[in-house]
Amino acid sequence: MNPTLLLEKPAVSWKNFDQMSQFPSTRYMGSKFKLLDFIWDNTRDLEFNSVLDAFSGSGCVGYMFKTKGKSVSTNDVLRYSACIASATVENSHEIIGDEELELLLSTPAKTDGFIRTTFEGLYFEEEEYHFLEKIMHKISLLDSKYKKSIAIAALCKACIKKRPRGIFTYTGSRYDDGRKDLRLSIEEHFMNAVSEFNEAVFDNGQKHQTFFGDIFDLQKNDCDLVYIDPPYFSLRSDNDYLRRYHFVEGLCSYWRSAEIDFSTKTKKIKKQVTRFDSRQTVYKAFDDLFAKFHDSILAVSYSSNSIPTKEEMIELLKRHKRCVKVEEFDHKYSFGNQNHKIGNNANSVKEYLFIAQ
Ligand SMILES: C[S@@+](CC[C@H](N)C(=O)[O-])C[C@H]1O[C@@H](n2cnc3c(N)ncnc32)[C@H](O)[C@@H]1O
Repeated sequence: MNPTLLLEKPAVSWKNFDQMSQFPSTRYMGSKFKLLDFIWDNTRDLEFNSVLDAFSGSGCVGYMFKTKGKSVSTNDVLRYSACIASATVENSHEIIGDEELELLLSTPAKTDGFIRTTFEGLYFEEEEYHFLEKIMHKISLLDSKYKKSIAIAALCKACIKKRPRGIFTYTGSRYDDGRKDLRLSIEEHFMNAVSEFNEAVFDNGQKHQTFFGDIFDLQKNDCDLVYIDPPYFSLRSDNDYLRRYHFVEGLCSYWRSAEIDFSTKTKKIKKQVTRFDSRQTVYKAFDDLFAKFHDSILAVSYSSNSIPTKEEMIELLKRHKRCVKVEEFDHKYSFGNQNHKIGNNANSVKEYLFIAQ
C-alpha cells in the first residue's frame, strides 16, 4: 500500500471540508444562499452565541450559523420552511438509513387518491401524484420526528425540482425547457434529496430549536442575535410565498392543516394575512418586530428597491437601538425570485444588512 496516499487523503479532505457545502440548495424565493459570506463577514465579530433566524425560508442562514458553532433557533410561517429547518438545523444526529428508504419506497402502500383527485391535470402526472400519496402514507409510519422532517423536506424538494421554474403559480408545464431535472422521475429526485438531507446532518455541540408560525406570535425568545429577513415589500412585485409554494406547503400536512381555495385554477391554499405586503402595514410591522426583539442584537436584511427605504429603516431601528450600521452588497435576483423584472435592471439591487445594537 502507498503510505503517501494514506497520509494525504484525510489531510486534504478535512482541511478543505466545508460543512456549508452539504446544505441541500433550493431555488427558494429571496434565499440568501449567495449572500452567506456577506452576512457572516458582517456578524462574526459581534458577541453572540445564540441566534434566531426569524424568517428562515430555505433555512440556509440558520444552517450557516450552525456551521459557525452557534446555538440556532429558526422560525417561519410556512410548515415547509419549518420542516427543512427541523431536518437540517434542529436535527443533529438522525438520518434515514438505506433500509428505511427501501421501506419508504416499497409497494404496496395505502393510498387515498386525494392528491390525484384534487390536483388532476394541474402539476404532475397521475402516477407521480400516486407516488406522493404513497410516500406520505409511509412517512406517517416513521417513528422519529427528524426522520419525518428529512423525508417530507426531501419529497418537497423532489416536487420543486420536477416543476418547471420550481413554483406552483401556474398550471400545466408551459415552462418546460428540457432541463435534465425535468427528465428525472419524481422517485429519483426523492432518493437524491434524501441523500442530500442525510449528508447535511451534523452536530456542532449546541442545542437548536425550530418554530413554526407568525413571528408576532412567537413566545419571547432570548437569543443574543436575531436575524430578520422578512418578505421584501415593493410596489412592483408581489412577495406572496404561499402563492408560489402552496403545493408543497399543503403536502407537508397532507392538506390537513391547509384550506384549499377550490375557486382558484391552481387550487392554492387560502391566502394568509401578512403585515409585510402593504404600504399601510409594513412600517408598523417593522416597528413592532424591533420592539419585540429590542434586547437582542438585530441583523436585518432588506433591499434597495423595497419599502421602507434605507433611511426609513435606519430611523425605525434607531427608535429601539442606540447604534445602527448598514453594509451593502450588489446583488442580482434570478427568475422566479422576488423583485425580478424581465427587460430592465430592476433585478439588480443593493442588498442591505442593517446591524443594530
Ligand atoms: C425573504 S424570505 C427568507 C429567506 C431566507 N432568509 C433564506 O435565505 O432562504 C421570507 C420568509 O418569511 C416568511 N414569512 C412571511 N411572513 C411571515 C411572518 N409573519 N412570520 C414568520 N415568517 C414569515 C416566508 O414564509 C418566507 O419564508
